[in-house]
Amino acid sequence: MTVTHAREVAMKNRVVPTNSEVRLSDDEFIVSKTDRRGIITYVNRTFMKISGYSEPELLGVQHNIIRHPDMPRGAFKLLWETLDQGKEFFAYVKNLCKDGSYYWVMANVTPDLNSEGEVVGYYSVRRKPSHAAIQAITPLYKEMLDIERAAGPKEGPQRAIAHLQGFCESQRCSYEELIWSLDNA
Ligand SMILES: Cc1cc2nc3c(=O)[nH]c(=O)nc-3n(C[C@H](O)[C@H](O)[C@H](O)COP(=O)(O)O)c2cc1C
Repeated sequence: MTVTHAREVAMKNRVVPTNSEVRLSDDEFIVSKTDRRGIITYVNRTFMKISGYSEPELLGVQHNIIRHPDMPRGAFKLLWETLDQGKEFFAYVKNLCKDGSYYWVMANVTPDLNSEGEVVGYYSVRRKPSHAAIQAITPLYKEMLDIERAAGPKEGPQRAIAHLQGFCESQRCSYEELIWSLDNA
């Protein structure tokens, strides 16, 4: 897909979010691969089934095509900062389907290395999150979003991350420990 075509797809899909939820089953895994900029290079069938997009609509397009407006920018800033450090990243993510529905996932994003050990892109595998995790993370993301709205696009995401880290400190755990503790809640 050319860049122009990818833009056309994104423009056409100005999706209006609804309150309808799509749920993954216990044995479903959503997989995608991107280049170093987050441009999608591979999606599995479950990705297409859940998101409602076809393969030609997804390949060559920035992964933010399924970004849900309820997701704080800080969550993605943390994702990219963690990947830039060569580390894998875990997060609960609310995504937007083509028809405006949403779905929650527990996502793991890892660097894709070539034979020389250089990062050539990223992989993401997502599975169904626990109900308790979504109950806990929803108000936290809402607080992050409110902070971002109040602080503006320049300062907002960093302040939202600071809020998330403050929450982890109040729970006496690291961000990763928070994710895992919610997974087993
Ligand atoms: C492998 C990989 C998977 C990603 N998966 C998602 C995803 O499922 N949902 C999402 O909103 N962003 C995902 N992103 C992050 C997007 O590339 C983008 O940073 C994010 O949607 C915020 O976009 P925006 O800053 O343009 O709003 C992923 C990035 C990578 C590298």
